[in-house]
Amino acid sequence: MNNNIVVAIDGYSSCGKSTLAKALAKELHFIYVDSGAMYRAVTLYFLRHNIDLENHALVADTLHNIHLNFQTQNHKTFITLNEEDVSEEIRQMHVAEKVSSVAAIKEVRVAMVRQQQRLGRSKNIIMDGRDIGTVVFPDAQVKLFMTADPKIRAERRYKELLPTNPNITLEEIFDNLAHRDYQDTTREESPLTRAEDAIILDNTDLSQDEQLLFALSHIEPFIAE
Ligand code: CDP
Ligand code: CDP
Repeated sequence: MNNNIVVAIDGYSSCGKSTLAKALAKELHFIYVDSGAMYRAVTLYFLRHNIDLENHALVADTLHNIHLNFQTQNHKTFITLNEEDVSEEIRQMHVAEKVSSVAAIKEVRVAMVRQQQRLGRSKNIIMDGRDIGTVVFPDAQVKLFMTADPKIRAERRYKELLPTNPNITLEEIFDNLAHRDYQDTTREESPLTRAEDAIILDNTDLSQDEQLLFALSHIEPFIAE
């Protein structure tokens, strides 16, 4: 029997999931898995190879050529796509614009979920995404559902992207977040929804330290057991 602890963090776009997940992983010495990075890396591959997203047979076939991996160096985690570090490129807008369409394809989800479940089979992990508490790990010991005011989320993401994208606008980011949230919550395959047993964490007025303390207070009882 496995006694590993799984912490599932789901929620809307840019509401601090990965910031919290990384901080928790560092504090608890758990492994962090960014499931969104996997969908983004697959999207990047499809964009680079001009894959027609309507052609699901081609999409399914193409998935066999995609090998994703997480590597950690100096406490930083990188995602590799066929051995290439794509951690920076997957954050760019051209990927953000397409990722929710890619993530809505059943064949893509089946392949990603299988890899995610393998990663969490025997280790203590924190995984963030959209369907972690509902589909990937429905038995996770701790489930958090994160949310925050959409304007605050867009401003935070804008501040983060502006140094490397001087032409980006707040409006463009706001629209992208709203569009992705719409696609993610209304798609047929594993839509973003709060698991019944997930704890809601609204961080509109919370600092990163405050959200960390909130999450730790819910995880620590399982570690002490
Ligand atoms: O960081 P951000 O909130 O912008 O998004 P992300 O976590 O990098 O995820 C990018 C996109 O991947 C989301 O908008 C979803 O369309 C998709 N995704 C998903 O469908 N299921 C997951 N478990 C994780 C991400
Ligand atoms: O992973 P997700 O897309 O949900 O969000 P994120 O990348 O963790 O956070 C988006 C931005 O919000 C980052 O620039 C964080 O530093 C910032 N953030 C914040 O300012 N205050 C918080 N309580 C949480 C996140």
